[in-house]
Amino acid sequence: MQKIFTFSTLLALTVALPQRNRKGSQKQQTAQQQAAQVPQGISQAQDGSTILDDTVMVNGLPIRFKISAPANQFLAASGVPGAVATSANGTLGANVLLHGDGGQSFFDFPNQNVQANTMGVALLAPNQNLFWGGGSGLDRTDGVEHAQAINDFVQTALPQLVAVNMSNVVFTGVSGGSLLMSGFFIPAQMQNFPNSAVELNCGGLTPQVAFQNSATVMTQTRIHFQSTQSELQELQGSIPQAVAAYEQLATDAGLSTAQINQLQTVDNSPAGGHCEFDGKDFVSGVQTMLTSFSNVMQGGDGTVQGLGAPSNGVVTTGVVGNENLKFVGGQKREVTRESMVEARWTQDVVEEPDFNFVICDRASCE
Ligand SMILES: *[C@@H]1O[C@H](CO)[C@@H](O)[C@H](O)[C@H]1NC(C)=O
Ligand SMILES: *[C@@H]1O[C@H](CO)[C@@H](O)[C@H](O)[C@H]1NC(C)=O
Repeated sequence: MQKIFTFSTLLALTVALPQRNRKGSQKQQTAQQQAAQVPQGISQAQDGSTILDDTVMVNGLPIRFKISAPANQFLAASGVPGAVATSANGTLGANVLLHGDGGQSFFDFPNQNVQANTMGVALLAPNQNLFWGGGSGLDRTDGVEHAQAINDFVQTALPQLVAVNMSNVVFTGVSGGSLLMSGFFIPAQMQNFPNSAVELNCGGLTPQVAFQNSATVMTQTRIHFQSTQSELQELQGSIPQAVAAYEQLATDAGLSTAQINQLQTVDNSPAGGHCEFDGKDFVSGVQTMLTSFSNVMQGGDGTVQGLGAPSNGVVTTGVVGNENLKFVGGQKREVTRESMVEARWTQDVVEEPDFNFVICDRASCE
């Protein structure tokens, strides 16, 4: 198999850039260049798992990733200390997260704790603005290529690094990441992930490309749409359209109303702005959804701990009859093209270039 590791190359890039890391030159740098200043390497997750942060080339695109799993689940080729797995077949599934525009949730890694036998994986968009699908707003010009790269990373690169149960791979989108998932990845690539699940947080798009094997995909893919009452204007339009389109695909696949309501659910009950699911903030709101991920997506009772008022916390309302989400304040707002970009992590690039990462080479950490 082709050697995919480019650790030393990327380490060199990381080392070369910090001299330019001064206020003033900061503004000229793209989000992608700033991300390259956040060191890769090995660190510890909140639950004691080991996080590997590195980059591989997939179809000519640099895919920076984070994998969080118990050290003994990594394969020796990963370079993780304590890696003892010898087979790509593992017992842990993976929850693959796609961040929103600007990359915030990649750096936060809100799915890093192992949950319901599922490890956390996050991927950084191979785009100078760190937009999944490229383009901007609802127009994702590189959606096809990016969806293919995500598929190929999970199918080919991931099992070279960590033992994974490929029958239990699920996905999370945040904002722009949800646009890529619903607009491109589910229609083009979900046929490769039987019995999967996709949590679409604060974003949704009708399928933008031909749907591969929709009859099969729709009968076995769990989809949850999560928004808030004061969602961004353009998403107030596209999320209900996506809900209706996926429901129609399920109907076309022959599913009954009861079956559709089991597989496809929707909620926007929390009062709050874009991704503020706890009613407070983007970062803590996204964390709130991921902390209760398995409850919503992997057979739990649908309760999200800490969901913002006035919600009762149960988000798994069937889509049928609930396609037209009620938003507040939307009509009164001036119709501007509101930005979806969230990139607070760039502040840390200036103030704390070392972040909280332990820097490692293939042999040791310091
Ligand atoms: C991994 O699992 C797949 C599917 O169960 C099986 O076909 C394959 O032989 C297994 N490979 C190894 C190396 O155990
Ligand atoms: C892999 O995941 C599937 C689906 O959750 C499960 O049925 C199966 O038992 C898992 N395999 C292993 C080896 O854990």
